[in-house]
This record gives sequence, C-alpha cells and structure tokens, in this order.
Amino acid sequence: MSNELTLDKTDGHTPTIGEPLLQLSGLQKHFPVMDGFLFKRQVGAVHAVDGVDLTVHANESVGLVGESGCGKSTLGRLVTRLYEPTAGTITYAGQDISHAGRKQLAPIRSEIQMIFQDPYSSLNPRQTVGAIIGAPMEINGINPPGGIQKKVQELLETVGLNPEHYNRFPHEFSGGQRQRIGVARALSLSPKLIVADEPVSALDVSIQAQVVNLLQQLQKDLGIAFLFIAHDLAIVRHFSQRVAVMYLGKIVEIADRQSLYESPRHPYTHALLSAVPEADPDDDRERIRLVGDVPSPINPPSGCRFRTRCWKAQEKCATEEPPLVQLSGNLDGHLTACHFPEDGGLAAAPAAV
Ligand SMILES: Nc1ncnc2c1ncn2[C@@H]1O[C@H](COP(=O)(O)OP(=O)(O)OP(=O)(O)O)[C@@H](O)[C@H]1O
Ligand code: SF4
Ligand SMILES: [Mg+2]
Repeated sequence: MSNELTLDKTDGHTPTIGEPLLQLSGLQKHFPVMDGFLFKRQVGAVHAVDGVDLTVHANESVGLVGESGCGKSTLGRLVTRLYEPTAGTITYAGQDISHAGRKQLAPIRSEIQMIFQDPYSSLNPRQTVGAIIGAPMEINGINPPGGIQKKVQELLETVGLNPEHYNRFPHEFSGGQRQRIGVARALSLSPKLIVADEPVSALDVSIQAQVVNLLQQLQKDLGIAFLFIAHDLAIVRHFSQRVAVMYLGKIVEIADRQSLYESPRHPYTHALLSAVPEADPDDDRERIRLVGDVPSPINPPSGCRFRTRCWKAQEKCATEEPPLVQLSGNLDGHLTACHFPEDGGLAAAPAAV
C-alpha cells in the first residue's frame, strides 16, 4: 500500500446525479479460520464477500438483499473501510480508497457514513443526545455557523425530533426515535453516501415505514446516495431504485427495481420474492419456499453456490460458476448469474421445493 497516496475532498469534482460515486470491483473479504493452541495456523477462510462488482451512483439508493450470513454487513463495512479488503478495489468519487490509511482517508471519511441496525447499542447511554450527534463535528474540528449546539438542534428537527431534547439521554427515547438520533449523527458531517445496515430491522413493524420514509426524504432533499441493506425485498421495494441480491458472498442478480420485482430471472430472487407479502390477494404467482440454511461460507459449494438449494440445479451448475451477465430478454442493466434462469414471468415458475 502506498503512503504517497493522497485523497482529495470530493468538493469541486463531486459526482452529480447519475454519475458513479462508489464503484466496487472484484471486492473480496476472507476472514482467516485459525487452528492450533500454541502455534496458530490458518486452516481455511470464511469467504464472506467473494468477488463483488457494484456501482452506486450519486443520489441513488441501491438495495442489498439476502439471507442472514450472505455477507451484506461485511460488504457495508468494507465500503466504510471498517474492514480491509482481501482483494479487489473500492473507488469513491474516482479515487481508489481500497487500502487508504486513516490519514489518507481523513478528507473523505466524513462523506461516507454508516447507520447501524441496532439503535440501542449504537448510542452511548451515558452521553446526551446533543453530545452524541455533535461528536463527529467535535472530532473532525468542524465548527458550523452558529456553533455545534445550533447545528445539533437543526439536525434533530431534520430527523423529526424535538430540538429542545438535545440534553436528554438515549433511554428517554423510543426505538424509532433512537434510530432517528443515529440518522442525525450520520448526517452531522453532510455525507454523500450512507451505508444503512438493516436500519429498521430492530424496530416495530408499525414504525419501520416512518424511518424508511425519513431516509427517503433525506435522499431527495439532501441528494444523499444510499446503500440500503435488508433481509428481505419488501423493505427496499419503495426505497431503492436498484436492487442487488446477494448469496454466499456474491451478487447473483441486480436490476432496477421494476425489472427485478416484475421479471426476476434468478431462482434465488424468485424465492425471496415469494416471501414478500403481496398487496394483491388475487395474485396467482407460484410460491417458492426456500428450504435449508445458507451453506457454510468456509467451504462454499462448487460452481453455482445456490445449487444445494436450487430446484433447477443440473450437472453444469456444480462444475461451472455462472457469470453475472445480461440475459436475453432482460432490460439494460439487469444482470443475472444463472445457467438455467427463470423466464421472467413469476406465474410460470417451477414447482416449489
Ligand atoms: N469478523 C468476522 N470474523 C469471521 N467471520 C466473520 C466476521 N464477520 C462476519 N463473518 C462471517 O462472514 C459471513 C457473512 O457475515 P455478514 O455479517 O456479513 O452477513 P450478513 O449478510 O450481514 O448477515 P445478517 O443478515 O445476519 O446480518 C458469516 O458467515 C459470518 O459468520
Ligand atoms: S445456475 Fe443452476 S443451481 Fe444456480 S441458480 Fe441457476 S439453475 Fe440454480
Ligand atoms: Mg448483517
């Protein structure tokens, strides 16, 4: 890694709407598996993220969906550089940040923020809300016009909380309000990209929509790009312009929202969609019930990683890894990794497993 690498703040050449802001290429994160008591040696690796190509454009929201253990959080942590990639590149606003050190990252650190799943553990219970939201400004030596307190109160208002409550402690707020505090903290440095890792999964269903609406509003009003991580396709449906489906460390399908929901081509996407409750009770699409767990990422299946759970698997699926490509009949930008894809019409799906 080069120490000469210097990164510029993106001001001045900030990508505008539609231009690539974040580009991931062949991104990998393997966690070593160690064995031995005295003399530890590596006996394998968890292939948590295993060759991901993904672009997030300025002001775009990309949903990242998959079952537990598929590598979504690891991918989010690679983007925010909480983890060092094993291989591949992360390009932010045209600059390679894959292995940039703390100092080198400083100018753009504020532009990429993360919102975590658990609003309870991500806020320090001994700090006031004002101190929590103001901390990133303090740490970065930023003194906004009118002072930090004024800025904190503006942020509280932006996220729908009472600006008078900046002296209160996290336990005095409900779960949804605490997640709003987390959002205000992420906004304090005027980010251009927010990685939201299951930001509403820990909340009551009744308040999930409120927080999603808030994030959607912020995306519109402040022009922030989002990588929105979720377990299922229901939550990202109304929030993300494009959706990527991840399975065992790889993206198996990516498309704009309409194309993905209306014409999924990958059997795994089809199965995930089957789990989404339909607004239309007369919908006659065939239901697929996924059985079994995601296999271990320490020793992923050969060929197509989904083959151990796929009802369409054939010999080729075990020997050849399907590339992520545009299939005939797919719209531009709709990529699928499957040797025997669905025909794109949900009603014509094969029998459930
Ligand atoms: N620090 C780590 N060390 C070793 N293995 C890890 C580490 N972090 C994650 N893993 C493993 O990597 C795989 C991917 O984990 P990750 O948390 O990224 O999945 P996820 O899709 O976010 O799952 P969930 O939906 O449960 O949050 C899992 O098998 C997990 O056990
Ligand atoms: S490549 Fe084969 S196993 Fe993989 S999803 Fe397609 S049909 Fe199923
Ligand atoms: Mg996760």
